[in-house]
Amino acid sequence: MPQYRRRGWYDQDGQGLQEVQATSACGRPHVSLNRIVKGQDTVPGEFPWQISLQLNKRHVCGGSLISEEWVITAAHCFYQDLSQYQVLLGANQLSNPGPQSCCLGVKKVIVNPTYAGQTSSGDIALVQLTRKVHYSEFILPICLPDASVKFPPGKVCWVTGWGNLLDLPSPQTLQKLQVPIIDSKTCSALYRTNIADGPIPRVIKDDMICAGFAEGRKDACKGDSGGPMVCPVGQSWVLAGIVSWGEGCAIENRPGVYSRLTYYQKWIHSHIPGIQFVKDPNSHGLREWRDIHYLRSDTSGQKHPGVHLPSHASSLSASLLMFLLCLLILI
Ligand code: ARG
Repeated sequence: MPQYRRRGWYDQDGQGLQEVQATSACGRPHVSLNRIVKGQDTVPGEFPWQISLQLNKRHVCGGSLISEEWVITAAHCFYQDLSQYQVLLGANQLSNPGPQSCCLGVKKVIVNPTYAGQTSSGDIALVQLTRKVHYSEFILPICLPDASVKFPPGKVCWVTGWGNLLDLPSPQTLQKLQVPIIDSKTCSALYRTNIADGPIPRVIKDDMICAGFAEGRKDACKGDSGGPMVCPVGQSWVLAGIVSWGEGCAIENRPGVYSRLTYYQKWIHSHIPGIQFVKDPNSHGLREWRDIHYLRSDTSGQKHPGVHLPSHASSLSASLLMFLLCLLILI
């Protein structure tokens, strides 16, 4: 494991200092891979985008770092004056965050305008930090998905958090749990079984994505809200959902419901124009010449930052080109 030296730098295989900035592509941790109910401990650096949103020094929600100065979380985490919030980055054990962690204030919060209270749509918020953070082995951003990225049912993703703190024994290590994606129709059907009267919606809206287990037992829970549900896309981890709501936690037929990131690409881009979105390397179809070129050079064994695209996409694009060339010659 590369050794942490000082903020912004680390020693790579003892071959001298290298700036972390150079290897700071999103969704690539240097450590490979109620409270969350029935999760497992993570190790430092495994989920370096995970933050703890704190109100007067107490953990209230999770969140994810998406750039040097922006964090994304749930809208329902904000119910107090902004000056009382802080963001803790780079921590693994909440009761013992360590010197690699860093606490910053909140400069601005942009709550999605469609958010209208618990379990409503639009449970997503952008948080601007008071200053830029320095990336390190323990503080790195997660990738955001382009609107075209699909998270098919059954795809296995991870949710992380320090939720249900009362149950989480000291030193309160960040928990991780594998959750399969559930399609929205199935999820709505599950939420309609054995219904009791109450404010819980029975339809999963377009901006929501379900993940978890029909049999219950394993789930995110209170305090995990705002935190990340990440899935592998190509060679990177991508933020698919933000912990939003559920009926109870880990209850049968009541899987976790998350805010769906792909639905909010335009909204995020409108507030943070510089931010990059990751495309799905498996989606077929015509690609830009730049992408084809990228694929070609990728097969030469060179290492590129960003998403690696599989070679079958490359050969598809190549055969398409050949076909067009032949057509041209024939004409
Ligand atoms: N909304 C709750 C919170 O504020 C819990 C969210 C997740 N619940 C669930 N069953 N997956 O932390």
